[in-house]
Amino acid sequence: MANIPLIELNDGHRIPQLGYGVFKVPAEDTERAVSEALEVGYRHIDTAAIYGNEQGVGAAIAASGIARDELYITTKLWNDRHHGDEPDRAIAESLDKLGLDAVDLYLVHWPTPAKDDYVHAWEKMVGIRERGLARSIGVSNHLVEHLDRIVAATDVVPSVNQIELHPAYQQREITAWAVAHGTVIESWGPLGQGKYDLFAAAPIAEAAEATGKTPAQVVLRWHLQKGFVVFPKSVRRARLEENLDVFDLELSDAQVAAIDAMDPGDGSGRVGAHPTELN
Ligand SMILES: NC(=O)c1ccc[n+]([C@@H]2O[C@H](COP(=O)([O-])OP(=O)(O)OC[C@H]3O[C@@H](n4cnc5c(N)ncnc54)[C@H](OP(=O)(O)O)[C@@H]3O)[C@@H](O)[C@H]2O)c1
Repeated sequence: MANIPLIELNDGHRIPQLGYGVFKVPAEDTERAVSEALEVGYRHIDTAAIYGNEQGVGAAIAASGIARDELYITTKLWNDRHHGDEPDRAIAESLDKLGLDAVDLYLVHWPTPAKDDYVHAWEKMVGIRERGLARSIGVSNHLVEHLDRIVAATDVVPSVNQIELHPAYQQREITAWAVAHGTVIESWGPLGQGKYDLFAAAPIAEAAEATGKTPAQVVLRWHLQKGFVVFPKSVRRARLEENLDVFDLELSDAQVAAIDAMDPGDGSGRVGAHPTELN
């Protein structure tokens, strides 16, 4: 079984650096897909209330017989539940669906800045962690302006910021903030969601050729060597295995630098929504 590195968060808890994300895994297929992921060796599952598949994740966890402390489970607070006591109700509902007493990581999914209640949502997250319902708390899709505001209001630095990040879109301003503040970056869409033709790009194709690995494995390895946490999604067992088989590969400094140079820095590689526009 793969020996997946653990990364220490700013609250002392540790997160497996490679996991399995279940965005767009259909609810009726989730128990099977997560069960297969657990069978092939994944222990970190990334879901969200909005994915509509927390129940399937919970069913797979219950059926697995794997000890709770060997699993790392993340879910997320959806955008229409930042206000009032909605975050408290939302975490209770998520835990019920997952069949858990606590998640390892709870994230504010998007800041939705037009509504301007993400600071309140973050204050509620701090309370959720204090009550033991989430061991660690973090955010997702937060830009530097959002991060600065929530930290100024609470003095609590998110353990994690989960953002779109792949070779064509490297989010250097946010990753620099994360390094300066001790926040771990999680790369969502690490393979460009299949929308961006990453695998044909010369630095990736050439590194795959040179190492005898697949382009997907090269991209995942690049994330790991940059220190990012990743959880590629696939509904195919062969790809679940392929995406986990990245620990006998070491990209050279030159191969990493060539992939680093793929992002022109103009935002053109973005495949998902922009945090200021998603409200
Ligand atoms: N916080 C957020 O706002 C946010 C947004 C998006 C995603 N996420 C999280 O990040 C996770 C991963 O991102 P993602 O699912 O959007 O995109 P992704 O992992 O970059 O890409 C998934 C796509 O790549 C394909 N794929 C997977 N492994 C492959 C391989 N080895 N070779 C070729 N193709 C492969 C999958 O197809 P098949 O399934 O057909 O194999 C699927 O079409 C999500 O599942 C979710 O947990 C978070």
